[in-house]
Amino acid sequence: MRKEILLSTLIGLLFGSCTNDSESDLREPDSPTAVSYEANIKQIIANNCLGCHRDPPVNGAPFPLNTFDRVRDRAENGNLLAAMKRQTGEPAAMPPAGRLPQATIDLVEEWIDEGFLEQ
Ligand code: HEC
Repeated sequence: MRKEILLSTLIGLLFGSCTNDSESDLREPDSPTAVSYEANIKQIIANNCLGCHRDPPVNGAPFPLNTFDRVRDRAENGNLLAAMKRQTGEPAAMPPAGRLPQATIDLVEEWIDEGFLEQ
């Protein structure tokens, strides 16, 4: 009986330590599912960009990023990803408060590479 309790505790610890952090929750690694605006990108923008890039924009942000078309247009002309890739503190690094986790930036890059899927 004691052995069983010990074993289940060990198993619990083993699996308990395998929980994903919030970055990897955005998408399972090696998932065959393509990255899409609705499933992945919208939330990233909402959490990190709409504080300023809302419609109308505030805090000096030059344009809104509140719709699929607007985010795609900015991603298409190249400067959205470039801004996110800048190091914290560099001019026009986005978001200005601090670079997002690399996994998040990679997801945006993948979305661009896969052709800006909406759904
Ligand atoms: C605290 C307010 C704020 C937040 C949050 C913010 N921005 Fe900005 N953004 C600005 C301001 C102000 C500018 C224009 C001044 C500058 O370039 O620094 C700007 C400019 C930009 C530009 C143009 C950069 C260039 O190269 O000219 C892009 C693209 C951009 N933001 C994207 C984003 C994205 C994507 C996010 C979220 C990941 C974001 N921003 C979050 C305030 C913000």
